[in-house]
Amino acid sequence: MTDAPAPKYAGPMRILSGAQTSGSLHLGNYLGALVKFVRLQDQAQCLYFLADLHAITVGRNPKKLADQMREVAAAYIASGVDPERSAIFPQSAVPEHVELAWIFNCVARLGWLDRMTQFKEKSGKHKERSSVGLYTYPVLQAADILVYKATHVPVGEDQKQHLELTRDIAGKFNHDFGVPGFFPLIEPVIEGPGARVMSLRDGKAKMSKSDPSDYSRINLLDDADTIVGKVRKAKTDPEPLPETVEGLAERPEADNLVGLYAALAGKSKADVLGEYGGQGFGSFKPKLADLVASVVAPMGDEMRRLMNDPAEIDR
Ligand code: AMP
Ligand code: TRP
Repeated sequence: MTDAPAPKYAGPMRILSGAQTSGSLHLGNYLGALVKFVRLQDQAQCLYFLADLHAITVGRNPKKLADQMREVAAAYIASGVDPERSAIFPQSAVPEHVELAWIFNCVARLGWLDRMTQFKEKSGKHKERSSVGLYTYPVLQAADILVYKATHVPVGEDQKQHLELTRDIAGKFNHDFGVPGFFPLIEPVIEGPGARVMSLRDGKAKMSKSDPSDYSRINLLDDADTIVGKVRKAKTDPEPLPETVEGLAERPEADNLVGLYAALAGKSKADVLGEYGGQGFGSFKPKLADLVASVVAPMGDEMRRLMNDPAEIDR
């Protein structure tokens, strides 16, 4: 090996992320993404967009789309994203995302996209009837990030594969066009107990906007009574909570509820088990319900207040 390593990207640290405007945001979005959006504001310039072009890969209802865009913007602000410090904007307002996506469509390989598990999940058994947009969705995501030469991308665990693809596209572009270090090889920001929040009905499925059961998720717009009811009904097993984190293995529902408590309280799972290990869900669930309600219900109130004035959000 005589080649010197390719020069690294030398630009400034820049944070970028977004959420699809395809339905109401839930606790998984909050813990997996929004909490990190807020924290990173102290570290560098932040760009947080509303992924409306990604939302139309699966449905097109213009009126709903406009309302959902405001709802996602309200969620960003209510969770603590400060519009004075961080840019909040619709993806479709910046045409360069789509322009760069086309160039990246010519850089990315079919084989890379064929491996994307999110497409497989979303297209299900009807691949040939899915939109081409759904297939090439991760290429637009790479363009969203690299059009700003963002370096750090806070997301939940489910987006890891898309961010790896973004790195592959940046590397191939830099190599093929002979411009080493032109696009950064981004750093995903994923870690933490909230990176993968699971359904309250099934500890093996992720909490998702598209789950038909509303009891599977805590929506950011749920009121305190609804939240308490959903946590009370959450699926569990009959055993008491274990004393150690190892004891959560093979107990996906228990693991999820302990993880939720930890993420919301800013503690580790070990701390939570130190406090509640040995107790049954009958005593743990009410504590968890109060904690979830104390964080989510005020955020929902603030979202409703913001959404009452659509013109102000649009500004
Ligand atoms: P989406 O609503 O799919 O656009 O997701 C917006 C952000 O929330 C992304 O960073 C996702 O990774 C994150 N996210 C979505 N669902 C979950 C979940 N169940 N647990 C943790 N993070 C999630
Ligand atoms: N695909 C992401 C999701 O479903 C949303 C998204 C689109 C995104 N473009 C992005 C996230 C760029 C981070 C960076 O959650």
